[in-house]
Amino acid sequence: MLNLAILISGRGSNMEAILKSIKKKKIPINPAVVISNKSDAAGLKIAKKLGVNTEVVDSSQYKGKRLEYDKKLMLILNKYGVTSKNGLVCLAGFMRIISPQFVRKYKNRILNIHPALLPSFSGLQAQEQAIKYGAKYSGCTVHFANEGVDSGPIIIQAVVKVKDSDTEGSLSKRILTKEHEIYPQAVKLFAEGKIKVSGRRIIIKN
Ligand code: GRF
Repeated sequence: MLNLAILISGRGSNMEAILKSIKKKKIPINPAVVISNKSDAAGLKIAKKLGVNTEVVDSSQYKGKRLEYDKKLMLILNKYGVTSKNGLVCLAGFMRIISPQFVRKYKNRILNIHPALLPSFSGLQAQEQAIKYGAKYSGCTVHFANEGVDSGPIIIQAVVKVKDSDTEGSLSKRILTKEHEIYPQAVKLFAEGKIKVSGRRIIIKN
């Protein structure tokens, strides 16, 4: 069976949605470990409550030492059997840019969720960017991580209408509900071997 690691930095609501859906929908993947770069991430408590191993790899001492930090992460991934042959890594609100070495080692095995319809509004504060730009629709995107920021092949997107009355908070809330739907769906597709990568395009096998 595949082994899954979820990397978080804070709240962990996407992590929770993934873990619950693995149980409920019997997704064929073992939730091996949740790793946070912050010891006070609220998601750590949720993971423990759900019976999943947790690890903290504190990033505060690794400013400007991205590769060193990621090497430490990769050691922990290996320890839990989340390997480049048999693993899946989900970035779920993990507030660090990962190194090209990490991306290359786990090629097409690292997923990320972004709260906008990529390639629009990449980077931070995506929901605020959408409102300020005046977009009428935004949404969320699950994609493979590549060596850029929010730029890997797109697996699933969900659309959310932007209302005239929206604030960053209200739009973020509606987008988050959709995130909690599509991220578990993408994990399921991966676990069932249904994702085929063809250049930048992802083909979902029947
Ligand atoms: C989500 O909006 C996700 O799209 C973004 O960071 C946020 C994380 O939220 N990358 P949570 O920690 O999963 O609740």
